[in-house]
Amino acid sequence: MFSLKVQSLLLALSATSFASPDCKISPADSAWPSYDEWGALNHSIGGVLIKTAPVASSCYSGNPFGSPQNCTDVQSKWSYAAFHASVPESIDFPIYTNNSCVPDGATGYTEGKGCSIGGLPQYIVNATTEHHIAMAMRWASQRNIRIVVKGTGHDLSGRSTGAFALSIWTHNLKHIKHDNAWLLPGRNETADVLFCGSGNNWGNVYTAAHRFNRSAVGGEDSTVGLGGLIQNGGHGYLSSHYGLASDQVYQATVVTTDGRILVANSVQNQDLFWAIRGGGGGQYGVVTEFVLKTHPVPENVVKGSLVFYATEDSGKSVNASWSALTEVVSLIPDLMDDGLLGNFTAYTKTNSLALGFSEAPPGVSAVIGLIGYNKTTDHMNNIVSNLANRINTIGSARYLNISVEQATTQSYWSFVYPDASLSHTAGAVSLMTSRLMGRRELSDIPREQLTTYLKEALQAEDEETGTMLLFGLQGGRGTASVPEDMRGSVLPAWRSAYAHVFTLGASVNATGDPSESLRAGADWYEAVKEPLWAKWAPDTGSYMNEGNPFCSAWKKDFYGENYDKLLSIKRKYDPSESLFVWTGVGSDFWNYDLQTGLLCRVAPGTVEEPL
Ligand SMILES: Cc1cc2nc3c(=O)[nH]c(=O)nc-3n(C[C@H](O)[C@H](O)[C@H](O)COP(=O)(O)OP(=O)(O)OC[C@H]3O[C@@H](n4cnc5c(N)ncnc54)[C@H](O)[C@@H]3O)c2cc1C
Ligand SMILES: *[C@@H]1O[C@H](CO)[C@@H](O)[C@H](O)[C@H]1NC(C)=O
Ligand SMILES: *[C@@H]1O[C@H](CO)[C@@H](O)[C@H](O)[C@H]1NC(C)=O
Ligand SMILES: *[C@@H]1O[C@H](CO)[C@@H](O)[C@H](O)[C@H]1NC(C)=O
Ligand SMILES: *[C@@H]1O[C@H](CO)[C@@H](O)[C@H](O)[C@H]1NC(C)=O
Ligand SMILES: *[C@@H]1O[C@H](CO)[C@@H](O)[C@H](O)[C@H]1NC(C)=O
Ligand SMILES: *[C@@H]1O[C@H](CO)[C@@H](O)[C@H](O)[C@H]1NC(C)=O
Ligand SMILES: *[C@@H]1O[C@H](CO)[C@@H](O)[C@H](O)[C@H]1NC(C)=O
Ligand SMILES: *[C@@H]1O[C@H](CO)[C@@H](O)[C@H](O)[C@H]1NC(C)=O
Ligand SMILES: *[C@@H]1O[C@H](CO)[C@@H](O)[C@H](O)[C@H]1NC(C)=O
Ligand SMILES: *[C@@H]1O[C@H](CO)[C@@H](O)[C@H](O)[C@H]1NC(C)=O
Ligand SMILES: *[C@@H]1O[C@H](CO)[C@@H](O)[C@H](O)[C@H]1NC(C)=O
Repeated sequence: MFSLKVQSLLLALSATSFASPDCKISPADSAWPSYDEWGALNHSIGGVLIKTAPVASSCYSGNPFGSPQNCTDVQSKWSYAAFHASVPESIDFPIYTNNSCVPDGATGYTEGKGCSIGGLPQYIVNATTEHHIAMAMRWASQRNIRIVVKGTGHDLSGRSTGAFALSIWTHNLKHIKHDNAWLLPGRNETADVLFCGSGNNWGNVYTAAHRFNRSAVGGEDSTVGLGGLIQNGGHGYLSSHYGLASDQVYQATVVTTDGRILVANSVQNQDLFWAIRGGGGGQYGVVTEFVLKTHPVPENVVKGSLVFYATEDSGKSVNASWSALTEVVSLIPDLMDDGLLGNFTAYTKTNSLALGFSEAPPGVSAVIGLIGYNKTTDHMNNIVSNLANRINTIGSARYLNISVEQATTQSYWSFVYPDASLSHTAGAVSLMTSRLMGRRELSDIPREQLTTYLKEALQAEDEETGTMLLFGLQGGRGTASVPEDMRGSVLPAWRSAYAHVFTLGASVNATGDPSESLRAGADWYEAVKEPLWAKWAPDTGSYMNEGNPFCSAWKKDFYGENYDKLLSIKRKYDPSESLFVWTGVGSDFWNYDLQTGLLCRVAPGTVEEPL
């Protein structure tokens, strides 16, 4: 009772001392809660509040923030996604924290910059109950404090961190419960489901599903979390069969910034239920639990692959490599209609050394990795050798080296087994651009036109290093055939997309001022790659989890026709606009400046005012 009284007193005080109502407050504002006030919040939520202590602080003289992990450990784990997931404040791609506390030797480390809280959140709620989240968010939103949400911190666009914010860390919401005959809300029908705390990663979910001889639609890497993957769409090994991860949700529990704990499904809070199924993470509230549909386990997984590249530095050989890429890309929809998935990855210049060459071949080099379920190795070998034959008719053995690997078969469990896919890609710079491509963009287009687009898609700012272009075979019949009532607010272009295509190519200066480096990279994409997408695939859009977070056409590209409705839902459930992410709905009313760390409303009239 005492803490309740203290709280209402603080509320009254802070309400009169807002320094700058146009910005979320920072520690420099007089309205920023005192040490004792934060202590009172901590007390009211059972002591789960953490004052941010950057984990790499131990790499700086005197360990200024008292990191509990020594620098040697931090340095050796910095490139592992699972490491950042285990640390309250850390994220995979530190440029989005303004490189505030990066260990010596890591990408983004700059001598003399030192270690600060900077772009990291100020405080973190190590939530284990919905009540913790509700209390803390209500407290923060009443005080005009920015709120961010972190599950794993894997976000490729840095959307799970923010300066001067209170972070809700969902990592410890880890329950999983199975019900093989759950009565669906509002329906006289049961389904086999998993109740999953949003702090789980897909490895946990696949392991639980395996125990019940079921499978679940999630990401490929087992360290990716549910919160961001589901709420932004989510493709993976089963999406081309059963639809996106956001298409599998029967119910979610959502805590709003004003402190309500809501169950959202097809009979209650339907608008919120629709929004969190593909309309973006970290925007409408904090999801604490998802009830997910499960599927049968494929009998086996068959894998096949083929690599091709130009054998000599001649016009004929180089042209043959581009024609071969054109040919295989145009076959993606047919291959997917035959039940196949996987990815096609093309590389140019020194980027192609990723294929294991000692010297980069001229032209374009590509690896085609195909996966099939319930198929024989003979079937796969036939498909791959047919592909090889088609490529052969384009460039004879003289001009193209085509190497085919014999198909292999394995159990589904050994294929998705969590330890087999521990991501090692953290700690780098992340800035990409992507597009969804359907039959019209891949197959029903003149070959020469397609070749031109592929060449443009592989342009790189640094011509010496070249870049990569990946076609993920993740849509097709799976996303197209999802029943209407299971489709949330995910970009409708997914329903006619076969491939999710992404590329890199901007040379981001990792040791520059992060906001300037990101801006320069984004400007290059805006000048070179975004115009290509707009002419190649004007009517599709982009997968926002693996897209360009600074793309100027983000409303249309990430949300399409759902944008206005999502904006009104955002305003309804987060009326204080405490939750902000780049390219989130309504984010154009705000400016987040990585340099100052301030999140401020843009000048009135800059964008159309909300209703
Ligand atoms: C190694 C790696 C592999 C990947 N593989 C795939 C893949 O196979 N398929 C695919 O579709 N994507 C993939 N991605 C992209 C991935 O989906 C995104 O990075 C996604 O944002 C991760 O979600 P998260 O919850 O793990 O990350 P976080 O960084 O914790 O969160 C991402 C976003 O979701 C919000 N959020 C997280 N949890 C919640 C919650 N409970 N409530 C409200 N908001 C929340 C955050 O605020 C943030 O905006 C991969 C990324 C990486 C780094
Ligand atoms: C919150 O309380 C717990 C338990 O008393 C304490 O360990 C922790 O340091 C406190 N957090 C903050 C930010 O003061
Ligand atoms: C760092 O911590 C690890 C345990 O996590 C320990 O094995 C190692 O010896 C420590 N290294 C240093 C330099 O203290
Ligand atoms: C971000 O980094 C830049 C350049 O290193 C620095 O000038 C700025 O103060 C930092 N801002 C914050 C909020 O940490
Ligand atoms: C977060 O909470 C969990 C569960 O109570 C606890 O095991 C863990 O030590 C806490 N982590 C931190 C960094 O406080
Ligand atoms: C529910 O469905 C079952 C058969 O699936 C049927 O026997 C029962 O009458 C139905 N109940 C209602 C209320 O519709
Ligand atoms: C698991 O499920 C598959 C596919 O539904 C089925 O063929 C198989 O018999 C089941 N195995 C066990 C052990 O129940
Ligand atoms: C594979 O076969 C199993 C067992 O017959 C079946 O249950 C499952 O739906 C099939 N999966 C796919 C992806 O075809
Ligand atoms: C390679 O292709 C380009 C563009 O299509 C063409 O102009 C050129 O003549 C071709 N070169 C050879 C050697 O075939
Ligand atoms: C592409 O496929 C290969 C196997 O062929 C796999 O190792 C890799 O993880 C896949 N990449 C992506 C981004 O899906
Ligand atoms: C083709 O590639 C394979 C494997 O990289 C190599 O062994 C072979 O010699 C190459 N053939 C030609 C004609 O370059
Ligand atoms: C990156 O930025 C730093 C700091 O501004 C600058 O010194 C350096 O020259 C830049 N590097 C490149 C390759 O532009």
